Amino acid sequence: MRSTADALRHRFGDFDAEIDSLEPDTARAWQLLANRGVCRRFKPEPVPVAIVDTLCALALSSPTKSDLQQRDILIVEDAAKRARINELLSEQDWLPAAPNFLIFLGNNRRQRQIHAWRDRPFVNDHLDAFFNTGVDAAIALSAFILAANAVGIGCCPISTIRNRAQDVSDLFDMPDHVYPVAALGFGYPAGETHISARLPLSATVHRDRFDDSAIEADVNAYDRRRHAIFPYRKQRDVARFGEQEFYGWSEDKARQYSNPERQDFGAFVRRKGFKLS
Ligand SMILES: Cc1cc2nc3c(=O)[nH]c(=O)nc-3n(C[C@H](O)[C@H](O)[C@H](O)COP(=O)(O)O)c2cc1C
Repeated sequence: MRSTADALRHRFGDFDAEIDSLEPDTARAWQLLANRGVCRRFKPEPVPVAIVDTLCALALSSPTKSDLQQRDILIVEDAAKRARINELLSEQDWLPAAPNFLIFLGNNRRQRQIHAWRDRPFVNDHLDAFFNTGVDAAIALSAFILAANAVGIGCCPISTIRNRAQDVSDLFDMPDHVYPVAALGFGYPAGETHISARLPLSATVHRDRFDDSAIEADVNAYDRRRHAIFPYRKQRDVARFGEQEFYGWSEDKARQYSNPERQDFGAFVRRKGFKLS
């Protein structure tokens, strides 16, 4: 594992981390965060149930808006349901070999139930009701990953679960106002994880006002730096866009979002009872 300073320099380019005189536990925590990387190759042994439960407890110890606790975790243990998930998400070719699988849910149902039990009007039935559940679920997802990484477990979030949101909802009996935000495949890594380069902090950290006046130059420089460290092995959609001599991150992301994705997700969320205005 790289030192924190080295990992952050590798990720962000020209950056000097302030890491002097840290307590050993803090130094270790920062080093883990700096070295974090997605994992899609796993050993076959599953993570034991007791550890998964503890990771869920740690994930749900993360902050939650107004203490509303509008996120849940659905652990998939049933072999037939897991096989169906592998089938529904067949474009995730690494997923069948991930020994563990769970889904982070947005849950605004409980809040509405509480209003009914306490006979109080639920008057915040608008976009925020949906948005808060998604944010809460994402925070828990992140906490789960960091807690898992700390005990040597590798993870890959899966937003493509929302490509099949209705099927997934039906498979797991999700009622109104409960929906999948992202899934997570996890297990013990087979091999090293990779530290992905990130946009420079000059592009993504703003001081006192939003300023992206240098963004195009920043992105172009990032494309080059990233390419030098870890070039894309494959160009996306060559039949449509052709092969490019230099293929950077921005070209890849522009190609990725030139294809429609999840255009029916809004309709699914409305069917779940959310009002999005
Ligand atoms: C919310 C979320 C959804 C993601 N969905 C998928 C997915 O559906 N399939 C996949 O292979 N990776 C998915 N990823 C993993 C990202 O592709 C990965 O985090 C990204 O390439 C950056 O790499 P890094 O995590 O190693 O920095 C997702 C990550 C996040 C945070």
